[in-house]
Amino acid sequence: MPANLQPSGANPQSAIRNPQWVKFPPMTYQTLLFDVRDGLAIITVNRPDKMNALNDQVVDELRDAIERVATGSDIRGAIITGAGQKAFIAGADIGDLAKQGSFDGKHRSLRGQRILRRMETCGKPFLAAVNGFALGGGCELAMACHIRLASENAKFGQPEVKLGIITGYAGSQRLPRLVGKGRALQLLLTGEMIDAQEAYRIGLANKVVPLADLLAESEKMVRGIMANAPLAVALAIEVTDRGFDMNLDDASLLEANLFGLLASSQDMKEGLTAFLEKRPARFTGR
Ligand code: COA
Repeated sequence: MPANLQPSGANPQSAIRNPQWVKFPPMTYQTLLFDVRDGLAIITVNRPDKMNALNDQVVDELRDAIERVATGSDIRGAIITGAGQKAFIAGADIGDLAKQGSFDGKHRSLRGQRILRRMETCGKPFLAAVNGFALGGGCELAMACHIRLASENAKFGQPEVKLGIITGYAGSQRLPRLVGKGRALQLLLTGEMIDAQEAYRIGLANKVVPLADLLAESEKMVRGIMANAPLAVALAIEVTDRGFDMNLDDASLLEANLFGLLASSQDMKEGLTAFLEKRPARFTGR
């Protein structure tokens, strides 16, 4: 679908939507690079002189870019990375934070949370290619992605307490879900950074690769996911996300219901038939 159409009234927490479409002019980005190649979007936060810090403009543009991925029928997966060789994203722009009042702070936090949640639940795979500092909001954004690949020079941290604040993009909630409460509290309370190997050891990074290989490895992984059945990928994301905070019985029932739903898809028939015929499957997302 054209990038200048945006959903209205969609349930942002469901991969299955029936939105009404509203026309918006396409946004041109000043702080992002947005490139789509063969169905894969690469979003690069492009403020390397400021360690790709998230100022209000970057956040606005990220919201738009994520919506383009979520709703673009020509896009089946995305990578988010940072420009340059030093930083993925070194957090919210501290200059912007310094200007905010208490109600601005809540608004800023809720807005960022909504954007990351949209990314996390839109049903398409997002991978964070963490190419340097992933601090504060940068670490939170990486955690909202479904997978994190880290370069050997990457550093992760939630240094907010050193600035007199706490995480605002739900990092206090995603971090313990990823690494356990004890390790999360260590990072959240000390504000100290950990390196890529430590992030891998505790489950914050899925894999560590040399910086020179990061984008190629990231692309290989997302394209591998994109080659799978799109409805199955969307519902695997949904059941893992929704089921995580349910009790085991309810979550298992949700899984059974979605498993049943997929049994009526053309892609399931194609996937099973292709296996039996010893040929690659040709999925259509139906
Ligand atoms: N917000 C705004 N500007 C930032 C920034 C941020 N989160 N992080 C880095 N920058 C800017 C610096 O102010 C500096 O700008 P200048 O050249 O105009 O002075 C530029 O990016 C380079 O950063 P610098 O600190 O000189 O690089 P470094 O290699 O010595 O240190 C970091 C890198 C990431 C360790 C350090 O910049 C840092 O601690 N940043 C803040 C991280 C943070 O607390 N994030 C959470 C925010 S809630």
